[in-house]
Amino acid sequence: MASFTFKAAAQVVFMVLAVTLPPQAVEGLTVGKEQREFDYFVLALQWPGSSCRNVSMCCPTNGCCHRAELPAEFTIHGLWPQYQDKGWPSCCTNETFNENEVSSLFEDLERYWPSYRCGLVSSCSNRKGSFWAHQYEKHGTCGSPVILHQYDYFFTTLALFFNYNVTEALEEADIIASDTKKYGIEDVFRAVRSAFKANPKITCGKKGIIKELRLCFDKEFQLIDCDATKSCPKFVSLPEFHELSKPAMVKRAIPRMIDVEAIM
Ligand SMILES: *[C@@H]1O[C@H](CO)[C@@H](O)[C@H](O)[C@H]1NC(C)=O
Ligand SMILES: *[C@@H]1O[C@H](CO)[C@@H](O)[C@H](O)[C@H]1NC(C)=O
Ligand SMILES: *[C@@H]1O[C@H](CO)[C@@H](O)[C@H](O)[C@H]1NC(C)=O
Repeated sequence: MASFTFKAAAQVVFMVLAVTLPPQAVEGLTVGKEQREFDYFVLALQWPGSSCRNVSMCCPTNGCCHRAELPAEFTIHGLWPQYQDKGWPSCCTNETFNENEVSSLFEDLERYWPSYRCGLVSSCSNRKGSFWAHQYEKHGTCGSPVILHQYDYFFTTLALFFNYNVTEALEEADIIASDTKKYGIEDVFRAVRSAFKANPKITCGKKGIIKELRLCFDKEFQLIDCDATKSCPKFVSLPEFHELSKPAMVKRAIPRMIDVEAIM
């Protein structure tokens, strides 16, 4: 299977990447806003069972509508350059997402980096685009001097995702998808810490459903503790991913339906 080949290759190349990337001169970081170089990366992962809860419309680009093709695990939201103090740089260059540049990664992107909605999302300079375009243009362009091109952005993100399987880390502590079980938030932290020796950041929705789990990396892609702000109650859950019953399937993405929910 192609994705396994990629996975193996990604792990090797990734290790090389992590060791050999020298600090480079910062090039053209700013567009409009003044933005300084980022401090660390967040790998944001989303839980499909939570992301797909309130989907009301289906289209070919919405992963919630293709359950059979989706893996039962956390999937990628994005890799976000961050500032140590607060906030993050965004829209750092004028580069636009170009599918052709990442076509060799499509199989893995579609499987492990699916969008969970229909419609285009806004990116930079009033442009609108796909979920991948949004992630790259808004966040990926701010990866200088570590990540300078879109292929590197998507490749590196997939490689990190394959190297740190949080679903597996949770499973080892018997924390699995369930509509009935509640887990102590401290147990969830402990499971990730014992697998990766670093604290994740976890975000929750209503009733303590885990929406996202984030891992933090320094610029050499070594895991570091994420900031300690907590957004979850004492007990949390990982809802199962149910087949959507109601939504009508529409044939194409609806270009004018902009997602209002912040996609970060
Ligand atoms: C989903 O929709 C229901 C009913 O409209 C609402 O109560 C709930 O808060 C929503 N859940 C999420 C995760 O947004
Ligand atoms: C981005 O586009 C703006 C407006 O077209 C231009 O002024 C600016 O020089 C461009 N910046 C880069 C880094 O290419
Ligand atoms: C992560 O681990 C889960 C559970 O062991 C497994 O099903 C899944 O295939 C793994 N994902 C990747 C990308 O290796």
